[in-house]
Amino acid sequence: MPTTLPPGPRTPSLLNGLVFVVAHNRFLRSLHRRYGDAVTLRIPPFGTVVVVATPELVKAVYTAKPDVLHAGEDPLGEVLGPGSLFSMDEERHLRERRMLLPPFHGERMRSYEAIIEEEAKAAMAAWPEGVEFASLESFQTITLRIILRAVFGAEGRELAELEALLPPMTALGQRLVAAPILRRDLGRRSPARRWRAMRARYRRLTDKLIDDHLADPDLAARIDILALMLRAQLEDGGGIDKADLADELLTLLVAGHETTGSALAWSVERLRRHPAVLHRLEAEARGDGNALRLATAEEVLRVRPVISATFRLVKKPFEIGGWRLPPGVWVATGITTLHRDGRFHEGAGSFDPDRYLGKKPDTYSWIPFGGGVRRCLGAAFAQFEIDVVLRTLLRDFELQPTSAPGEREGFRGVAFAPSKGGVAVVRRRPLPQAAGPPESTSLITALNS
Ligand code: HEM
Repeated sequence: MPTTLPPGPRTPSLLNGLVFVVAHNRFLRSLHRRYGDAVTLRIPPFGTVVVVATPELVKAVYTAKPDVLHAGEDPLGEVLGPGSLFSMDEERHLRERRMLLPPFHGERMRSYEAIIEEEAKAAMAAWPEGVEFASLESFQTITLRIILRAVFGAEGRELAELEALLPPMTALGQRLVAAPILRRDLGRRSPARRWRAMRARYRRLTDKLIDDHLADPDLAARIDILALMLRAQLEDGGGIDKADLADELLTLLVAGHETTGSALAWSVERLRRHPAVLHRLEAEARGDGNALRLATAEEVLRVRPVISATFRLVKKPFEIGGWRLPPGVWVATGITTLHRDGRFHEGAGSFDPDRYLGKKPDTYSWIPFGGGVRRCLGAAFAQFEIDVVLRTLLRDFELQPTSAPGEREGFRGVAFAPSKGGVAVVRRRPLPQAAGPPESTSLITALNS
């Protein structure tokens, strides 16, 4: 089959790039309407990108062999460094992924429940009552502190400094990913220089935390992610590579907080505009169930996905949908376009968590976490975090509905968040009455358990 590419606009690459940055999702949707389910687009820094948006085409991308499509050459990896999972492919990528996955799943993941609730309560304690405030910042604080504690296991001066450094670093890093020109050193105050200075500070802090871990006589018993990585490097016998470790830790910290914080702000934004769902969630939160809350989080991620596309670089001729893409071309999955397509989601334009109540979303038409061997490493962890933070919010506060128009999708370079920061108005619920002394039987049960 000869090399062929799907149709697409013939406008110059730079112009496409500009429109992509400014109008992003609207641009992708208009291309989809005009050219169909696969569109070829020329945009910097990628070059030629084929954007696909049906479950069948998405499945072809996510099930391709790791030596046919690479993800480790996208700009995110370039900014995060060579030791980042985002920079790796094939064997090295799979090995690193296998090592990093356990803390983000199953029992280990559930062991973070108390930490998540504690951080949510601490941040929400500062929420004002009866006035509008942007919830996004508070959610970012919660998710950042959770991932910091999961990664480093303890608290201290370095963690407090990292907590202050990471939000501006994430914001700047996203701009560098979106606009390659900013990665050039254009003088003392240029974004590239600021990034280098932030990275140097970050390295000093992580080097100190690595040294503290290595000096810890209990390193073998520690369950934090840095300890896990250090033990793996020590077992390999190749010595400790602090630069690689720092890149990977930065990856987890950056990928693990902004995205989840944005999803939580979108939850507030959607729920205030859907009071019937909100009231059902409040009733559910009075008990132990969470089926509707899980379905709601899935629906929020469908209608307002935080990441709008995933990218792969074609390394060997790749056949998809009757086209044959040559090496050097990028193939992207259009998450937002696919999620809003009525052919694959009934009543796609409406916010309807019931569609996922007791049902798992389809692997190739619901893709907020991407897919295949590159599917988000923290997907289960993020969903768990969203569940516990929303439960805390619903139990401790009344969230006031609004008739204000929905917030627009604000593009931050990689992630999308509500343009006004997920404006919330809340009232604190009265504290539950203190329980009386336990009955003797339940006390005995408690002592025996
Ligand atoms: C709602 C929250 C989140 C969303 C929407 C999200 C979304 C994504 C997406 C779309 C990808 C790319 C997948 C692909 O290319 O197929 C990704 C990758 C990744 N995410 Fe997340 N993410 C979230 C939370 C997290 C958390 C909490 C972590 C914490 C560890 C995390 C760590 C990662 C990592 C390490 C990768 C790279 C995986 C690889 O290349 O193998 N993410 N995420």
